Amino acid sequence: MSDTATDIIHVFEPGTGSAHQPLLLLHGTGGDERDLLPLGRLVAPGAALLSPRGTVLENGMPRFFRRHAEGVFDEDDLRRRTDDLAAFIRDAQARYRLAAPVALGFSNGANIAASLLLRHPGLLRGAALLRAMVPYREPPVVGLGGTEVLLLSGVNDPIVPAANSARLAAILREAGASVQHQELPLGHGLSQMDVALTRDWVAKL
Ligand code: MLT
Repeated sequence: MSDTATDIIHVFEPGTGSAHQPLLLLHGTGGDERDLLPLGRLVAPGAALLSPRGTVLENGMPRFFRRHAEGVFDEDDLRRRTDDLAAFIRDAQARYRLAAPVALGFSNGANIAASLLLRHPGLLRGAALLRAMVPYREPPVVGLGGTEVLLLSGVNDPIVPAANSARLAAILREAGASVQHQELPLGHGLSQMDVALTRDWVAKL
């Protein structure tokens, strides 16, 4: 379904009565609202899936916010798009009667999920951040007690240096989130390891 609860194109798949929290699926650069549906179904069978398309185009590729270069974010745009996405989530929660969702984001989608955690604490029940990096040069200080975070990084990731993902884990922990950070023998792309670890983490929420 493409609709405009808030002008953001998205897919919503209702849950089928499972115990899982709804998942908010956030795709990577060049993806769209259909990309992560199979992953969402795998890691949280029967969960409601809410999957928006990034509202920015970079050379025709959808993204969730603008960047100046790879890994160099336009932070003003990131703040604005994060707030728009938060409004979308709140509208969708009212419209589809959803509990606080768990974000499942990959790459650019994981980065805006990290930004959602830091700008709108409490909006997400938790977040699985696959290949995320620190979204702000000076991240805001927030309270994330009660928020669960899974951070999966690749030790050979050419986009996210290991020190950067370690810093993200530290920032989220200092904010009070319960963070499971695992460094996988992988690059930026996802593998079955990501699927299995995310499924296990979701099952324990
Ligand atoms: C980003 O721009 O969010 C990161 O560099 C990841 C990517 O989309 O390549």
